This record gives sequence, C-alpha cells and structure tokens, in this order.
Amino acid sequence: MALTTRPRGTNDILPGKIELWLELEKRIRQVCHTYGYHEIRTPMFEHTELFERGIGDTTDIVEKEMYTFTDRGNRSITLRPEGTAPVVRAFLENKLYSGQLPVKLFYFGPMFRYERPQAGRYRQFTQFGLEVIGSSDPLLDVETIVLPIEVYKACGLTGFEVQLNSIGCPKCRKAYRDELIKYFTPHVDDLCRSCQSRLERNPLRLLDCKVESCQEIMKDVPHIADYLCPECAGHFDEVQDYLRALEIPYVVNPKLVRGFDYYTRTVFEVTFSELGSQNAIGAGGRYDGLVEECGGESTPAVGFAVGVERLLLALETQGGLEAVHARPQVFIVHFGGATKRKAAQIAYELRNEGLWVELDHMDRSIRAQMKAANRLQAQYVFVLGEEELVKNQVTVRNMDSGVEKQYDLKDLLNLADTLGRA
Ligand code: HAM
Repeated sequence: MALTTRPRGTNDILPGKIELWLELEKRIRQVCHTYGYHEIRTPMFEHTELFERGIGDTTDIVEKEMYTFTDRGNRSITLRPEGTAPVVRAFLENKLYSGQLPVKLFYFGPMFRYERPQAGRYRQFTQFGLEVIGSSDPLLDVETIVLPIEVYKACGLTGFEVQLNSIGCPKCRKAYRDELIKYFTPHVDDLCRSCQSRLERNPLRLLDCKVESCQEIMKDVPHIADYLCPECAGHFDEVQDYLRALEIPYVVNPKLVRGFDYYTRTVFEVTFSELGSQNAIGAGGRYDGLVEECGGESTPAVGFAVGVERLLLALETQGGLEAVHARPQVFIVHFGGATKRKAAQIAYELRNEGLWVELDHMDRSIRAQMKAANRLQAQYVFVLGEEELVKNQVTVRNMDSGVEKQYDLKDLLNLADTLGRA
C-alpha cells in the first residue's frame, strides 16, 4: 500500500479550500445563533450497541456500513456513522433533560460509513446537524426544516427542493406494514435480493429501493398517509399548515421513508437535482421513540443533518461560496546575517501585535523575496538592508499603491497600529 495514498472515500481539505469550509461554518453558526441552538461536540466513536439499538439492526447502515472494531479492552467500538444517536446519548448521560426543555443543539463534524465511494458519497464525510429534544410541537418539525434552508440561503444556494412525508407512529405503522406485506408478497420473486430480505424484516425499507424493477412493482403501492392514526394525521396537517404560513415551498413524497428505524411521524429530505444520484443535501425527521430506546423516559425529538461536502458541491454548480482569502499584512525582506536577526525581532513584535507577518526562510535573493511577497499578496513589504540597519530604519512599501517611506524602528509599534487598521 502506498504511504502517499489516503484511504478510499476520504478527502484532504487543502489551504485554498479550507477558507470555504471556515466561511460555511461561520454562516452556519450565525444562523444557529438566531434560532437559539447551542453547539455540542460528542466523541467520534461510541459503543457499537448505541447505533445497533438506536439506528436499528436491520438498517443498511448497521448491517453493512459501520466501521466497527474491538478495542484493546475488548469493547466493541464504532466510528459514528451519524450524529443523532450520540446526541441522544449525551442528552441522557449529562442529564440535559433536567434543564429547560426543549434542548436545542447543533453539531458539525466527521461521520464514517463504509459506502461505495463516488462523487458526493464518501466514507468520511462531514455533517452539520441539529437536534431538538423534549417537545412534540409540530412547529419544531418546521423549524428543523427552515433552519437548514436558511443556511442554504445564507450560502447563496437556490434551486433545492424540500420533500416531506409522515411515516406515522409504531401504532399506525403496524397496519401499514401488514398492508405492504400483502402488496409485495405476490411479487416476491421479481423483487431484488435486498428487497426480498427487507420484506420479511423491515418492509417499509422497500420503498427506498432504487432498483428499476422494484420501482416498477411499487408503482401502485399503498400510501402511508391513508393509514395514519388521527394523532399522526393531525400532526402532519399542522406541520404543513406552518410550512404554508411561512411560505416554505415543499412537496409531499408519499414514498419517502429514510434509512433509520428511529423515525416517527415527520420525515424530510432536501434534494438538489444537479448533483445526480447523490442529490440529498440534507435530511431529517422526528424520532419520538429514540430517547426511550436509549434508556431515558419517553421524550419526543426532531432533527436534521446537512451533508457539508454535498452542500459545497451544490454551491460549486452555482459559482461557489465567496470566501475572503486573507493576505499577510507584512512581508519582511532581509539580506541574511544581522538583517535576518533584526527581521526576526521585528516579525516577533508585530506578530505580538496581532499582524500576519512573513519572512524568508529559504535564503532567497532579494528579487525572489519580492516575488514571494507578491505571490502572497502581502499588503506591505519591509525592506531591511545593511544601510537601514545602521540607521535603525526600515523601508516600508505599500504594495497596493507602490508608495515607499522610511520609518524609524522605534516607531514600529505605532506603525503596527496603523497597519493593523489598514
Ligand atoms: P442521513 O440522511 O443519513 O441522515 O444523512 C444526512 C445527510 O448527510 C445526507 O442528506 C447527505 O447530505 C449527507 N451524507 C450521508 N451519507 C453521506 C456520505 N456517505 N457521503 C457524503 N455525504 C453523506 C442522518 O444522518 C440523520 N442523523 C439526520 C437526522 C438528524 N435525523 C434527525 N436528526
């Protein structure tokens, strides 16, 4: 294995691109702040059981996609494939329920899934997610749809679509499940291998199958909307009433089910069609049973997660996010020897004043140092030659205007103040 090759499905984010990530994070934090969400950071790995129980052991993620290993203490550990179950675990472990409800949290960080890598699908990817725990208010379902939309808008993205469905509660899902089994059983031999096994273990997941022949079979599949109990139907109506009141465009997709067992009632996905097959730039839903499943009291909750790499890909199709590329304020050109020592002192002092200062470490010629300063787009170049050193002065060149001036080195801190404001 080449030591210079990264594992499949991972990415290096290099200088030049990282500015976009930081800008995106900044905008996400601004939007979260206005909605009263606080950041949470959970470990990147958890006990495997949390995901087996939380996400569901018949889901694709748990069956095929988790990075699971036994640690040196013989514990089964899994790199988190998603953020919802860990946040619920943290909510319980840290007794966040004893404060004011609902608890509104957001997170930003890497997730790990052993999927087949392709454009927009990685084995390590980044999610920005939010979770609201402790209330069944349908307005919060809407808030978790609206907040990411505000993030998309804050980044300048247009042309995405919100798809919405309700998958009811375990009570109404039971009848629907029976109906699905009844519907699919006569077609069992024509279903793909995965769907054949899903039919026995988790029939709702058939609706998620992308295989064409299975799609054909489910053309006339019954819709869960017709099986919702009055409480779930009422909740779904209220969600839609609020969406209409806020003038948020959406479409109801009766086949939207999602790949996690924890969902109840509202589920949603935001798609951006230009991304092709991996077109979901965010998804989420309500999960009123998960807190209890993880050992807490019955507590309703709802949340959402945005795939950050996919959001950046979507933005690229529309010209990209604008990020400010910072430039050094000062580049000190020196002549080596005593001038280099003085340059080091000046750089130290100016950096202490908070300025970004560069100087040469490659024994470059003066011309090459000027070239380097240009390449970095430094705002000012300080030239520190033998002559300046003797006079205790420095020549300062404003690289934007080309104007040059001599400064006494003792005035350096005043100068730093001026440059800091430039
Ligand atoms: P998810 O649909 O699995 O939901 O992931 C959310 C988003 O993460 C996707 O819409 C997609 O943008 C991105 N994503 C997922 N897998 C990959 C991948 N392999 N490569 C790149 N991006 C990916 C969840 O994870 C739920 N925890 C969301 C949630 C929060 N539900 C309630 N609260």
